[in-house]
Amino acid sequence: MKASDLNVVLSSVVETVAEGICIVDEASLVQYANREMEKILGVSRADMTGHLISDITDELLDSDGLLIPRGQGASRLAMTRGRPVYDVEQSFRRPDGSVVNLSVNAAPLRGAGAAVTGAVLSIRDITDRLRAEAELRRSQERLTMLMSNAPIALVALDNSGCVTFCEGRALKAFGVKARDIIGGSVFDPKFAALEGMRALRNALRGDHGISRVHSTTLDIDLELRTQALEDEGGRVVGLIGVAVDVTDRTRAEAAAQESLEQLLVADRSRCQLIDRLVTAQEEERRRIAADMHDDSLQVMGAISLRMARVRARTNDARTREAMDDVQATIELAATRLRHLLFNLRPPMLDREGVAAALREYLEQLRDDTGVHYRLHDRLVLQLSVPQRTNLFRIAQEALVNVRKHATASRVDVTLESRWNGTLLSVRDDGQGFDPDRGRRPDSLGLLAMNERAEMMGGSCEIHSAEGEGTRVRVWLPDPAQVQTA
Ligand SMILES: Nc1ncnc2c1ncn2[C@@H]1O[C@H](COP(=O)(O)OP(=O)(O)O)[C@@H](O)[C@H]1O
Ligand SMILES: [Mg+2]
Repeated sequence: MKASDLNVVLSSVVETVAEGICIVDEASLVQYANREMEKILGVSRADMTGHLISDITDELLDSDGLLIPRGQGASRLAMTRGRPVYDVEQSFRRPDGSVVNLSVNAAPLRGAGAAVTGAVLSIRDITDRLRAEAELRRSQERLTMLMSNAPIALVALDNSGCVTFCEGRALKAFGVKARDIIGGSVFDPKFAALEGMRALRNALRGDHGISRVHSTTLDIDLELRTQALEDEGGRVVGLIGVAVDVTDRTRAEAAAQESLEQLLVADRSRCQLIDRLVTAQEEERRRIAADMHDDSLQVMGAISLRMARVRARTNDARTREAMDDVQATIELAATRLRHLLFNLRPPMLDREGVAAALREYLEQLRDDTGVHYRLHDRLVLQLSVPQRTNLFRIAQEALVNVRKHATASRVDVTLESRWNGTLLSVRDDGQGFDPDRGRRPDSLGLLAMNERAEMMGGSCEIHSAEGEGTRVRVWLPDPAQVQTA
């Protein structure tokens, strides 16, 4: 190739490369600049040619941000040193005011006799790279700040157990400082006693997940999560562990557990107390009922008998009529007294069971109010005395409400053995009510039903809505289940 042809090729190459190229003479005046140079500096070749680069801007700074004196740029450096200089960082303000960061290489040009006759500069725009580097630095600083303020620690290990990264405030819980362990190994005997290190050793053997670590020396609880660290090809190259100081949380959990236990104890004593009260009350009622039965009813029976005898002795019709009246009144009083005694303690509750006692009670209700009843007795389980008593009292309470509030025409009472226990249901077709509406302070019936059910380890639900009747459902567990529970 001829020299002139080579020149043509070279100049077209220089025009197309993605780097700014310019040639300056001995006095650093621009002799030639390629298209990319125009683009980077935002200055046309015509405006550059014959000028110092420092003359075409009002701000050419070095990497420390200091103004570069006129004619003392990278080309001057290369020329005075007589050899190339590389990666000189400068910043240049374009005529439009924007600033571009440059990386400049400069090499001296030599003429005949090896004298330096100028320099060639190649320039890259590194604004984006510097911005990205600055952003990376900032985010690293943020991460470090976060790590050193949050109660966590981040540790990275390679496959041999060597600590490659370690940062965070919770490190003190490991009993170590970052600088002491980076580059060290978790298998180092001097770390043998540190609980956190032991967890990391286990994780390195593949035992990943979450573990709680308690540091006895510092009385601190840590939660350590580990995860395998993989390279781009998916090969395990180590592990990463995040430790969180959970001391406050574990303490709060322990306190909550303790209060829960105290509550349970308190609740058990409350149930025992109610149980004792109810038993004592039932005993008392049984005794009063028995006394009244023996005493008052016998007296009434005796009066009635004597009256009959006296009546037989008189023939006076008006006296007989008056005595019949008295006789009827005594019988009414005896019936009322029997009802009272029944309510105090139905004798068949102990002898025949809860269904028989309820049947008697429902008969009375029908006779007094005209409310029809149906009683379904599907009990299979044998009930204990306290269960019978409580079931009867709950049903009684519900039936008193039917009598007092429901204006019902019928009531269905069901007793059945279900879900390892006994289910009682009392359902009326009356006017219903809204159970969510505030309770009157003197309304204790529904509350008492609930208390009784809970005391027996069971539950009580009330379903009602205005115009739709009311259903009370009570479930008491089989006593055998309660004891084993
Ligand atoms: N079967 C029912 N039908 C209609 N309303 C009822 C029924 N049971 C309870 N209630 C309503 O619930 C309220 C609370 O009942 P309760 O706690 O037994 O107290 P009390 O019977 O002393 O009013 C009653 O005042 C009544 O308004
Ligand atoms: Mg009531």
